[in-house]
Amino acid sequence: MSTEPTQLSATAAAPIAVLGDRSLFPTLQWPVHANFAAVSPPSLPVQQAMVEQVCDVARRGSFSFGDWIAQRHVLRADLAALLGCEPADLALVQSTTAGIAAVALAIDWRPKDKILCFLGEFPANVTPWQQVALRFGAVCQLMPLPAPQQEVGPWLEKVEVELRKGVRILAISAVQFQTGWHAPLAELAELCHRHGAEICVDAVQSLGAVPIDVKQLQIDYLSCGSHKWLMGPEGAGVLYLSSERRPQLHRTQAGWLSHEEPVGFLLQGPGLLRYDRPIRDRSDWLEGGNLAAASCAGLGAAVGLLRSLDPKLLWQHIQKWHDLLEPALQDLGFGSLRHPQERHRSGILAVQPPAGVSVVALHRALAARGMLTSIPDGNLRFSPHWPSPLEETAQLAAAVREAVAEVRASPALS
Ligand SMILES: Cc1ncc(COP(=O)(O)O)c(C=O)c1O
Repeated sequence: MSTEPTQLSATAAAPIAVLGDRSLFPTLQWPVHANFAAVSPPSLPVQQAMVEQVCDVARRGSFSFGDWIAQRHVLRADLAALLGCEPADLALVQSTTAGIAAVALAIDWRPKDKILCFLGEFPANVTPWQQVALRFGAVCQLMPLPAPQQEVGPWLEKVEVELRKGVRILAISAVQFQTGWHAPLAELAELCHRHGAEICVDAVQSLGAVPIDVKQLQIDYLSCGSHKWLMGPEGAGVLYLSSERRPQLHRTQAGWLSHEEPVGFLLQGPGLLRYDRPIRDRSDWLEGGNLAAASCAGLGAAVGLLRSLDPKLLWQHIQKWHDLLEPALQDLGFGSLRHPQERHRSGILAVQPPAGVSVVALHRALAARGMLTSIPDGNLRFSPHWPSPLEETAQLAAAVREAVAEVRASPALS
């Protein structure tokens, strides 16, 4: 059986995404869904791709296996086009966390190696580093991020002070989940390399809305789950391992599908079962066994929709949505955490409620009005994507006004 792409690479009459058009989400019950930074509802093409994958296995049983292995090649190629790298640089993984943990476990740690993480990060890019530090005698240090609207220069100087002392790897999110701050990845990567460190990026709050070019940015490792800005389902994700770093990584997590020609022994008769075939030097050696093929199929459909859009127009659409809502919220007394400079902005518009207004009560009052948002780390977070109509910002602003009044009027809610 070949593991090269087959007929699945041919996309017939692929559906396209239209900015501000929710028609590919006919069952979405929320009149306003501004929560793509949490979980993206699957569009019809994503649902169909997943159902088709399951139905195909239901029909053909193990005969379908080769085609779904081949779909991985197509998916890696599509993701590589989004990330500006080669398909060979990518491995499909289960989640952002799984990708980060895989990198952490593959590094050749030396005792007392320093891992630089950041206070305020989502734990997915801290916990795996803390665990490998415990296991291998490294040190995981947490340093502050800049305040949300602060100039980034003084903070970069502090990062450089730490790098000068000796850091093995710096781990950071491209976009912070609770403020929407887009980190200066190019500057960070350059500083890391100048001082002999590597950089590992959690891209789950950016890829799909905030363009990332891993080669241009000189990123060493990047992990991204499917179910937020990529708009795929849970259970799939992508891990980038730069070709320069790959040779130094331990292959301890390799499995039966990591070898060159891994499946011949199942299909081509006796004498082919061996344990000494080389482990592939492409990043997909990390795909050591079966993956969630239905989730990969769904992610493929989601990426296809994203790639039907001009990334610049998508960015402008999201920023326009923010531009419309932000002043209305500020008029109501909310403090915006959106950065004054465009390069530090993202798909997330996060605000802090007026004094004395409980964010938990506000979130509930908005949900009761049909508006889905989220409240990570106590901020009220709005995260629109390509299907979000610009007109919904007026509905949202009105609902927020009512919700604030309701929460203020009922001391039990505050
Ligand atoms: C920055 C960040 N990283 C990671 C995650 C979780 O990623 P996963 O569940 O794909 O591991 C989230 C949110 O759920 C997040 O906001």
